[in-house]
Amino acid sequence: MARHSLLVGFGGFLPDRVVTNVELASQLDTSDEWIRARTGIACRHVAGPHDTATSMGAEAASRALSYAGLSASDIDVILVATATPDQAFPATAVRIQAEIGMISGFGYDISSACSGFVFALATADSLIRSHQANRVLVIGSEVYSRILDWSDRGTCVLFGDGAGAVILEASESDDHRGILSTHLHSDGRLRDLLYVDGAVGQPEKSGKLRMSGRDVFRHAVEKLSSSVDEVLSSCGLTRDHIDWLVPHQANIRIIEAVAKKLALPADRVVITVDRHANTSAASIPLALDEAVRDGRIRQGELVLMEALGGGLTWGTALARL
Ligand code: COA
Repeated sequence: MARHSLLVGFGGFLPDRVVTNVELASQLDTSDEWIRARTGIACRHVAGPHDTATSMGAEAASRALSYAGLSASDIDVILVATATPDQAFPATAVRIQAEIGMISGFGYDISSACSGFVFALATADSLIRSHQANRVLVIGSEVYSRILDWSDRGTCVLFGDGAGAVILEASESDDHRGILSTHLHSDGRLRDLLYVDGAVGQPEKSGKLRMSGRDVFRHAVEKLSSSVDEVLSSCGLTRDHIDWLVPHQANIRIIEAVAKKLALPADRVVITVDRHANTSAASIPLALDEAVRDGRIRQGELVLMEALGGGLTWGTALARL
């Protein structure tokens, strides 16, 4: 079989502090009922003063390394998907590289907002297929609590903090496992639907997340549904082949719409949005880590990952574990 990428390691990290909807409703004109009904979210983890994209990403990476029985020196490349880096530069990836004691290879960040993990996974797979790397650590790490406008009830209830990591490893075996296909999209004309208002290049602005929730919702259902068709037909597969949907965890209603399109029963969809809220680029690797470690997803099963985020960006990845 041609050179391809196996998923061999999984890790996750969530900050200690859990903020419930009830706690938010004590500070904001919202309610537990409203948030649960519209989003499926019950609580979220929020970073403490010392948690950063680097510290959380490094912890998730260390857990993925130990899952795989590897050490930092076995890794050639670190890719970090984040919209909330510690610094504009150096990249969070090189900070994590130093943190985990990896002194060779290279690392860089990928900025595709909530689609970041799928974009990073696709990039990692390409680096492996083109013989530029044998093992790639792919991390999503986000502290959205620091870019939320905590007075905007339309956005601040939706997000949480955390990090997830996977390790891809080159293989030439004939097992039909690993990343089968990835598909990436962006449409910059839709950049104003979900964005951060300012940042390093525009310091006079707020630096807070802004969103037209209803429009993002509509695009998410539309674009993710057609992306699912795209990835399946590219592999000559049908929805009956899918064992698991591991979606970006933005909103239970978006997830259910995609699951319905795939005719997948609820127990074949990995859900963390109820407990994690939307952790942006961290949500898929966190969900994967949970479902692999608790034994739900088993070796040989076919997993569909999909995400949409600011950009708009969206993408899918199909992998046999
Ligand atoms: N608590 C209570 N009421 C709220 C609220 C909250 N947290 N947030 C908004 N509202 C109110 C609005 O002010 C509005 O009130 P009005 O009718 O008096 O003006 C009403 O609820 C309806 O607002 P609307 O924005 O139309 O609600 P909605 O049904 O679209 O749900 C979202 C809002 C954000 C939950 C939904 O649009 C959504 O999930 N969008 C996708 C967001 C997303 O996933 N983004 C990340 C993508 S990576």
